[in-house]
Amino acid sequence: MPTKRFFHQSFSTNVIIIFLLGLGLVKPDPDPLQDYCIANTKTRQPYSFNGLPCIDPELVLASHFSTPALSKPGNTRANPFGFNVTLTNIQNLPGINTQGLSMARVDIEANGLVPPHSHPRASEVTICLKGQIIVGFVTTSNHMYTQQLRSGESFVFPKGLIHFLYNMDQMKPALAISGLSSQNPGAQIVSLATFASTPGMPDEVLQRAFQITRPEVAKIRKNLGG
Ligand SMILES: *[C@@H]1O[C@H](CO)[C@@H](O)[C@H](O)[C@H]1NC(C)=O
Repeated sequence: MPTKRFFHQSFSTNVIIIFLLGLGLVKPDPDPLQDYCIANTKTRQPYSFNGLPCIDPELVLASHFSTPALSKPGNTRANPFGFNVTLTNIQNLPGINTQGLSMARVDIEANGLVPPHSHPRASEVTICLKGQIIVGFVTTSNHMYTQQLRSGESFVFPKGLIHFLYNMDQMKPALAISGLSSQNPGAQIVSLATFASTPGMPDEVLQRAFQITRPEVAKIRKNLGG
């Protein structure tokens, strides 16, 4: 009965969304209460704070709104996947504090992958600037949406959903730039979160979750440096 099944699926999806809304997990960053709030990155605060307090507005310079952070490629050899993400944050661009956004430079070497991951606090829109990449995300109903992006083409990853970017070209590196709807989007790489956490998840949990044997758990852990 397709109609009934559809109703059932969308009903349970709505319940999950309402539940997450209730928990406050899908709220955007709060709106600023002033034009800007240049992050005071120098003074250590004796208390925990959502974002950082502002410096004296009299001391604000144009340079607080500017950064060369994304001008150079990150090192794609520092991990086994062949990618690097360089992000603007309140340290290298104190002017984004309270603005609810950030920007990322995504370098992917030939045949490199930004492995399936999610940003718990941000939606993301990415534009491919160089090369060709395959991007995709999976919904909470396990449906995958995927596209091939050529230079100049953009794609949206909805908030919190697991997504990937893959450079299938065997010869040329790819470059993408992403805008994210949080000053601190956060990132969880699925394979590392499950197989390389500290302390590690119990072997039994991974065996059951992935339907694999104990030696297979050990092998994947080793491959991922867990
Ligand atoms: C990205 O590159 C920087 C240096 O450019 C390096 O410190 C960092 O570990 C790299 N990140 C990843 C995820 O490989």
